[in-house]
Amino acid sequence: MNRRQLLQGFAALCSGCAGAGRGGRDTGGTAGDTADSGSCTSPTAGGPTDYCLIEPVVVRVRDGATLAEGQTMLGLVDDTTAVIVGRDGSGFFARSAICTHACCVVNLCDDDACGSILSSPGPCESAGPASGGTAFCPCHGSMFRISDGAALNGPATTPLPAYAVTIDGSDLLVDTGLQVSPSDRVPS
Ligand code: FES
Repeated sequence: MNRRQLLQGFAALCSGCAGAGRGGRDTGGTAGDTADSGSCTSPTAGGPTDYCLIEPVVVRVRDGATLAEGQTMLGLVDDTTAVIVGRDGSGFFARSAICTHACCVVNLCDDDACGSILSSPGPCESAGPASGGTAFCPCHGSMFRISDGAALNGPATTPLPAYAVTIDGSDLLVDTGLQVSPSDRVPS
């Protein structure tokens, strides 16, 4: 069984995980049916990526489109595929939530200096909204600015990749198989 098959099996298992555990929200969506609220991912037309082990899938971040300006949310599929969505004055955007140093999942910060860090969500859940505009990697301490993905503190030096995002009702769909410019925004 390859990793995609494992993920598809996980997605099927995740169909009952809405709002389960740790107070998080599920990231929604059934494979092939982006309007359903069952699992976290659906297939993407994007090709394979050589960035960490990120699977090229469309990740549904439930309620992502309800973020207020300045807020961010993290949607987790598993420990190798996770995304951050945010909203600023120009609209919505998405970043990888996988640290570019050694591929750990980062945490959202609730203030710019990362004095307050949100807990990691469980599989198929999301964390946030957060208001910090930064993310912290618990593995070796790197810090990232979410608006453009820049690494503010090492050891990471490479920005978090930017992914294509679309609005689906109150949710955001993030395509981890389609990288875009860090300055791209989807009007809210
Ligand atoms: S994996 Fe994130 S700082 Fe090392």
